[in-house]
Amino acid sequence: MQGGLKTKAEQENLYLVGFMGAGKSTLGAALAQLLFRRHVDTDVLVEQRAGRCVADIFAAQGEAAFRELESQTLAEISQEKSLVVSLGGGTVLSPENWKFICQTGKSVYLDWPTEVLLARILTDQARPLVTGSEASERSAILSALLARRRPFYEKCDLTVQCGTEDSPSAVAVEIVNRLKEL
Ligand code: S3P
Repeated sequence: MQGGLKTKAEQENLYLVGFMGAGKSTLGAALAQLLFRRHVDTDVLVEQRAGRCVADIFAAQGEAAFRELESQTLAEISQEKSLVVSLGGGTVLSPENWKFICQTGKSVYLDWPTEVLLARILTDQARPLVTGSEASERSAILSALLARRRPFYEKCDLTVQCGTEDSPSAVAVEIVNRLKEL
């Protein structure tokens, strides 16, 4: 930063992208702390707007209503600057959402092995996309969902390969070091 003015890169938002269970919220908080930025989580903002949790929004209003709230939330926060934004796992699938992301910041994909993600999310009762199917079929459904989404995730400006040995703070440091690639 020079003369109190932020560079273009410093003003851009950083959007964290990845499947459910990728740790976008935890990592977002760690990254924001390292970069002295504000952290927001679109799922949390959607919950505040709706006055109910994500699972209840899906149950009471349906997925389309959730996606609408998610897009409205992204459209609003993308007008702010220098944020670290943890996105929901399905946000980047909408071309409209993707446009907001590309126009206002850089995207970082947290790429985990499929088996690690499945182990984390299969038991989580709070995830509507998981609990909506028979337990015996969940693993196959989630693997197929992840395979369909990977091409969208891989469009991100930066991909970080994550492993179980990496702590959130270590991944945050790696992202900071690699921001100059963007
Ligand atoms: C979703 C992921 C969830 C949440 C919603 C839908 C998805 O967020 O937005 O349940 O479509 O992958 P996380 O990725 O933070 O779990």
